[in-house]
Amino acid sequence: MTITIAVAGKGGTGKTTLTSLLIQQAIDQKWGSILAIDADPSSNLNQALGLPLDGTVGDIREEALDQVKGGSFPAGTSKQDYLDYKINENLVESAGLDLLAMGRPEGPGCYCAANNMLRNIVDRMADAYDYVFIDNEAGMEHLSRRTTRDVDLLLVVSDASVRGITAAKRVKELVRELDTKVRRMALVLNMAPEVVPPELASAAADTGLELAGVLPRDPLVAEYDAQGKPLVQLPPDSAVRRAVAAIAAKVADVLDTK
Ligand SMILES: Nc1ncnc2c1ncn2[C@@H]1O[C@H](COP(=O)(O)OP(=O)(O)OP(=O)(O)O)[C@@H](O)[C@H]1O
Ligand SMILES: [Mg+2]
Repeated sequence: MTITIAVAGKGGTGKTTLTSLLIQQAIDQKWGSILAIDADPSSNLNQALGLPLDGTVGDIREEALDQVKGGSFPAGTSKQDYLDYKINENLVESAGLDLLAMGRPEGPGCYCAANNMLRNIVDRMADAYDYVFIDNEAGMEHLSRRTTRDVDLLLVVSDASVRGITAAKRVKELVRELDTKVRRMALVLNMAPEVVPPELASAAADTGLELAGVLPRDPLVAEYDAQGKPLVQLPPDSAVRRAVAAIAAKVADVLDTK
Protein backbone atom coordinates (compact mmCIF):
# COMPACT_ATOMS: atom_id res chain seq x y z
CA MET A 1 0.00 0.00 0.00
CA THR A 2 1.29 3.42 -0.95
CA ILE A 3 1.35 6.06 1.76
CA THR A 4 0.65 9.58 0.51
CA ILE A 5 1.87 12.59 2.48
CA ALA A 6 0.86 16.00 1.19
CA VAL A 7 2.09 19.42 2.32
CA ALA A 8 -0.19 22.44 2.01
CA GLY A 9 -0.56 25.95 3.37
CA LYS A 10 -0.51 29.64 2.61
CA GLY A 11 2.05 31.07 0.15
CA GLY A 12 5.64 31.28 1.33
CA THR A 13 5.08 29.47 4.62
CA GLY A 14 7.73 26.83 3.90
CA LYS A 15 5.87 24.01 2.14
CA THR A 16 8.70 23.29 -0.28
CA THR A 17 11.32 23.58 2.47
CA LEU A 18 9.45 21.08 4.64
CA THR A 19 8.65 18.69 1.76
CA SER A 20 12.26 18.51 0.56
CA LEU A 21 13.73 18.03 4.03
CA LEU A 22 11.13 15.43 4.99
CA ILE A 23 11.87 13.51 1.80
CA GLN A 24 15.54 13.63 2.69
CA GLN A 25 14.81 12.16 6.11
CA ALA A 26 12.70 9.43 4.53
CA ILE A 27 15.57 8.57 2.17
CA ASP A 28 18.19 8.61 4.95
CA GLN A 29 16.01 6.40 7.12
CA LYS A 30 15.23 4.05 4.25
CA TRP A 31 11.46 4.26 4.47
CA GLY A 32 11.19 2.69 1.02
CA SER A 33 10.74 3.83 -2.56
CA ILE A 34 9.64 7.46 -2.88
CA LEU A 35 7.88 9.49 -5.53
CA ALA A 36 7.94 13.27 -5.06
CA ILE A 37 5.17 15.11 -6.88
CA ASP A 38 5.66 18.82 -7.38
CA ALA A 39 2.07 20.03 -7.70
CA ASP A 40 3.06 23.70 -7.76
CA PRO A 41 2.98 25.19 -11.29
CA SER A 42 6.13 27.14 -10.48
CA SER A 43 7.91 23.77 -10.11
CA ASN A 44 10.74 24.47 -7.66
CA LEU A 45 10.80 21.34 -5.50
CA ASN A 46 13.51 19.92 -7.74
CA GLN A 47 15.82 22.79 -6.79
CA ALA A 48 15.33 22.20 -3.08
CA LEU A 49 16.07 18.52 -3.72
CA GLY A 50 19.04 19.28 -5.97
CA LEU A 51 17.53 17.46 -8.95
CA PRO A 52 17.28 18.50 -12.60
CA LEU A 53 13.92 19.03 -14.27
CA ASP A 54 13.39 18.71 -17.99
CA GLY A 55 9.66 18.83 -18.47
CA THR A 56 6.37 18.71 -16.65
CA VAL A 57 3.06 16.91 -17.05
CA GLY A 58 1.64 20.27 -18.17
CA ASP A 59 4.22 20.46 -20.97
CA ILE A 60 3.30 16.95 -22.09
CA ARG A 61 -0.38 17.90 -22.22
CA GLU A 62 0.29 21.05 -24.26
CA GLU A 63 2.53 19.18 -26.64
CA ALA A 64 0.05 16.36 -27.12
CA LEU A 65 -2.83 18.79 -27.66
CA ASP A 66 -0.80 20.71 -30.25
CA GLN A 67 -0.02 17.47 -32.04
CA VAL A 68 -3.64 16.38 -32.02
CA LYS A 69 -4.77 19.80 -33.29
CA GLY A 70 -2.03 19.96 -35.92
CA GLY A 71 -2.69 16.41 -37.06
CA SER A 72 0.86 15.33 -36.23
CA PHE A 73 -0.06 12.98 -33.40
CA PRO A 74 1.84 9.74 -34.01
CA ALA A 75 -0.50 7.49 -36.00
CA GLY A 76 -1.13 4.04 -34.65
CA THR A 77 -0.25 5.04 -31.08
CA SER A 78 -2.95 5.11 -28.47
CA LYS A 79 -3.08 8.43 -26.65
CA GLN A 80 -2.91 6.59 -23.36
CA ASP A 81 0.29 4.76 -24.34
CA TYR A 82 1.82 7.92 -25.73
CA LEU A 83 1.12 9.97 -22.58
CA ASP A 84 2.29 7.11 -20.41
CA TYR A 85 5.56 6.96 -22.31
CA LYS A 86 6.03 10.72 -22.15
CA ILE A 87 5.40 10.89 -18.41
CA ASN A 88 7.92 8.15 -17.79
CA GLU A 89 10.38 10.00 -19.98
CA ASN A 90 9.95 13.11 -17.80
CA LEU A 91 10.32 11.25 -14.53
CA VAL A 92 13.50 12.42 -12.78
CA GLU A 93 15.19 9.39 -11.28
CA SER A 94 17.77 9.58 -8.50
CA ALA A 95 18.98 7.39 -5.66
CA GLY A 96 16.00 6.44 -3.50
CA LEU A 97 13.75 9.03 -5.09
CA ASP A 98 11.88 9.82 -8.29
CA LEU A 99 10.37 13.21 -9.02
CA LEU A 100 7.51 14.29 -11.24
CA ALA A 101 6.46 17.91 -11.71
CA MET A 102 2.84 18.65 -12.65
CA GLY A 103 3.64 22.05 -14.18
CA ARG A 104 0.99 24.35 -15.56
CA PRO A 105 -2.60 23.50 -14.74
CA GLU A 106 -5.06 22.88 -17.55
CA GLY A 107 -5.99 26.10 -19.29
CA PRO A 108 -9.36 27.27 -20.56
CA GLY A 109 -10.88 25.04 -23.20
CA CYS A 110 -9.31 22.09 -21.48
CA TYR A 111 -9.49 18.74 -23.13
CA CYS A 112 -10.85 16.85 -20.16
CA ALA A 113 -10.26 13.39 -21.56
CA ALA A 114 -6.54 14.14 -21.81
CA ASN A 115 -6.50 15.49 -18.28
CA ASN A 116 -8.30 12.50 -16.88
CA MET A 117 -5.89 10.27 -18.73
CA LEU A 118 -2.90 12.15 -17.32
CA ARG A 119 -4.29 12.09 -13.80
CA ASN A 120 -4.90 8.36 -14.04
CA ILE A 121 -1.43 7.69 -15.38
CA VAL A 122 0.17 9.70 -12.57
CA ASP A 123 -2.01 7.99 -9.96
CA ARG A 124 -1.23 4.53 -11.31
CA MET A 125 2.45 5.34 -11.46
CA ALA A 126 2.36 6.58 -7.86
CA ASP A 127 0.82 3.29 -6.72
CA ALA A 128 4.12 1.58 -7.50
CA TYR A 129 5.93 3.49 -4.74
CA ASP A 130 5.96 2.97 -0.98
CA TYR A 131 5.66 6.72 -0.36
CA VAL A 132 4.34 9.65 -2.31
CA PHE A 133 5.15 13.18 -1.13
CA ILE A 134 3.14 16.01 -2.67
CA ASP A 135 4.34 19.61 -2.47
CA ASN A 136 1.26 21.70 -3.20
CA GLU A 137 0.81 25.16 -4.54
CA ALA A 138 -0.42 27.75 -2.04
CA GLY A 139 -4.10 27.42 -1.18
CA MET A 140 -6.22 24.32 -0.87
CA GLU A 141 -8.52 24.44 -3.83
CA HIS A 142 -5.78 22.90 -5.99
CA LEU A 143 -5.27 19.78 -3.96
CA SER A 144 -8.28 18.05 -5.42
CA ARG A 145 -7.61 19.11 -8.99
CA ARG A 146 -4.09 17.89 -9.55
CA THR A 147 -4.50 14.37 -8.32
CA THR A 148 -7.28 12.06 -7.29
CA ARG A 149 -5.13 10.38 -4.70
CA ASP A 150 -6.37 9.93 -1.18
CA VAL A 151 -4.00 11.56 1.28
CA ASP A 152 -2.92 9.64 4.37
CA LEU A 153 -1.40 12.67 6.06
CA LEU A 154 -1.83 16.32 5.19
CA LEU A 155 0.73 18.57 6.83
CA VAL A 156 -0.53 22.13 6.97
CA VAL A 157 2.33 24.60 7.25
CA SER A 158 1.88 27.97 8.89
CA ASP A 159 4.28 30.78 9.60
CA ALA A 160 4.56 31.97 13.17
CA SER A 161 1.71 34.45 13.07
CA VAL A 162 -1.84 34.31 14.34
CA ARG A 163 -2.99 35.24 10.83
CA GLY A 164 -1.02 32.34 9.38
CA ILE A 165 -2.55 29.94 11.85
CA THR A 166 -6.02 31.24 11.07
CA ALA A 167 -5.30 30.42 7.41
CA ALA A 168 -4.23 26.92 8.45
CA LYS A 169 -7.52 26.49 10.25
CA ARG A 170 -9.32 27.54 7.09
CA VAL A 171 -7.38 24.88 5.19
CA LYS A 172 -8.60 22.31 7.67
CA GLU A 173 -12.18 23.43 7.04
CA LEU A 174 -11.74 23.43 3.28
CA VAL A 175 -10.44 19.88 3.27
CA ARG A 176 -13.89 18.68 4.28
CA GLU A 177 -15.31 20.22 1.11
CA LEU A 178 -12.84 18.48 -1.18
CA ASP A 179 -13.30 15.31 -3.16
CA THR A 180 -9.88 14.21 -2.04
CA LYS A 181 -10.04 12.05 1.03
CA VAL A 182 -7.63 13.16 3.75
CA ARG A 183 -7.17 10.64 6.55
CA ARG A 184 -5.15 12.72 9.00
CA MET A 185 -4.08 16.32 9.30
CA ALA A 186 -1.43 18.00 11.39
CA LEU A 187 -0.01 21.47 11.77
CA VAL A 188 3.63 22.48 11.30
CA LEU A 189 4.67 25.85 12.61
CA ASN A 190 7.55 27.27 10.58
CA MET A 191 9.98 30.14 11.10
CA ALA A 192 9.08 30.12 14.76
CA PRO A 193 10.95 32.17 17.36
CA GLU A 194 12.78 30.25 20.07
CA VAL A 195 10.01 30.93 22.52
CA VAL A 196 6.58 30.54 20.96
CA PRO A 197 4.38 33.40 22.29
CA PRO A 198 1.35 32.18 24.24
CA GLU A 199 -1.05 33.88 21.77
CA LEU A 200 0.42 31.78 18.99
CA ALA A 201 0.33 28.57 20.98
CA SER A 202 -3.29 29.16 21.86
CA ALA A 203 -4.20 30.00 18.23
CA ALA A 204 -2.49 26.76 17.18
CA ALA A 205 -4.42 24.81 19.78
CA ASP A 206 -7.62 26.49 18.62
CA THR A 207 -7.23 25.02 15.10
CA GLY A 208 -7.99 21.61 16.52
CA LEU A 209 -5.04 20.33 14.50
CA GLU A 210 -2.45 18.16 16.13
CA LEU A 211 0.95 19.91 16.19
CA ALA A 212 3.41 17.80 14.20
CA GLY A 213 6.31 20.07 15.00
CA VAL A 214 7.87 23.49 15.07
CA LEU A 215 10.64 24.57 12.68
CA PRO A 216 12.87 27.38 13.87
CA ARG A 217 13.78 30.29 11.66
CA ASP A 218 17.16 29.14 10.38
CA PRO A 219 19.31 31.73 8.57
CA LEU A 220 21.01 28.88 6.70
CA VAL A 221 17.74 28.11 4.85
CA ALA A 222 17.50 31.65 3.53
CA GLU A 223 21.21 31.63 2.72
CA TYR A 224 20.99 28.38 0.72
CA ASP A 225 17.88 29.60 -1.11
CA ALA A 226 19.56 32.92 -1.90
CA GLN A 227 22.52 31.08 -3.41
CA GLY A 228 20.37 28.50 -5.19
CA LYS A 229 21.91 25.70 -3.14
CA PRO A 230 19.74 22.59 -2.62
CA LEU A 231 18.24 22.57 0.87
CA VAL A 232 18.99 18.86 1.17
CA GLN A 233 22.67 19.87 1.40
CA LEU A 234 22.05 21.71 4.67
CA PRO A 235 24.29 20.31 7.41
CA PRO A 236 22.54 17.50 9.30
CA ASP A 237 23.05 19.34 12.58
CA SER A 238 21.48 22.57 11.32
CA ALA A 239 18.55 23.77 13.41
CA VAL A 240 15.95 23.22 10.71
CA ARG A 241 17.15 19.74 9.77
CA ARG A 242 17.10 18.61 13.37
CA ALA A 243 13.55 19.92 13.71
CA VAL A 244 12.47 18.12 10.52
CA ALA A 245 14.06 14.91 11.81
CA ALA A 246 11.80 15.16 14.85
CA ILE A 247 8.77 15.69 12.60
CA ALA A 248 9.78 12.72 10.42
CA ALA A 249 10.01 10.52 13.50
CA LYS A 250 6.55 11.61 14.56
CA VAL A 251 5.14 11.09 11.06
CA ALA A 252 6.66 7.62 10.88
CA ASP A 253 5.12 6.86 14.24
CA VAL A 254 1.69 8.16 13.33
CA LEU A 255 1.64 6.36 10.00
CA ASP A 256 3.14 3.29 11.54
CA THR A 257 5.66 2.88 8.73
CA LYS A 258 7.91 0.44 10.54
N1 LIG B 1 12.72 27.66 8.70
C1 LIG B 1 13.09 28.64 7.89
N2 LIG B 1 14.04 29.53 8.24
C2 LIG B 1 14.39 30.54 7.43
N3 LIG B 1 13.84 30.77 6.23
C3 LIG B 1 12.89 29.93 5.81
C4 LIG B 1 12.45 28.83 6.60
N4 LIG B 1 11.50 28.17 5.92
C5 LIG B 1 11.33 28.82 4.76
N5 LIG B 1 12.16 29.88 4.68
C6 LIG B 1 12.25 30.85 3.58
O1 LIG B 1 10.94 31.26 3.25
C7 LIG B 1 10.75 31.34 1.86
C8 LIG B 1 9.57 30.47 1.45
O2 LIG B 1 9.88 29.10 1.67
P1 LIG B 1 9.28 27.96 0.74
O3 LIG B 1 9.61 28.20 -0.67
O4 LIG B 1 9.65 26.66 1.34
O5 LIG B 1 7.72 28.24 0.97
P2 LIG B 1 6.49 27.69 0.12
O6 LIG B 1 5.35 27.61 1.09
O7 LIG B 1 6.86 26.47 -0.59
O8 LIG B 1 6.26 28.88 -0.89
P3 LIG B 1 5.26 28.90 -2.16
O9 LIG B 1 3.89 29.14 -1.60
O10 LIG B 1 5.77 30.02 -2.98
O11 LIG B 1 5.39 27.57 -2.82
C9 LIG B 1 12.05 30.92 1.22
O12 LIG B 1 12.74 32.06 0.83
C10 LIG B 1 12.80 30.19 2.32
O13 LIG B 1 14.18 30.40 2.22
MG1 LIG C 1 6.63 25.97 -2.62
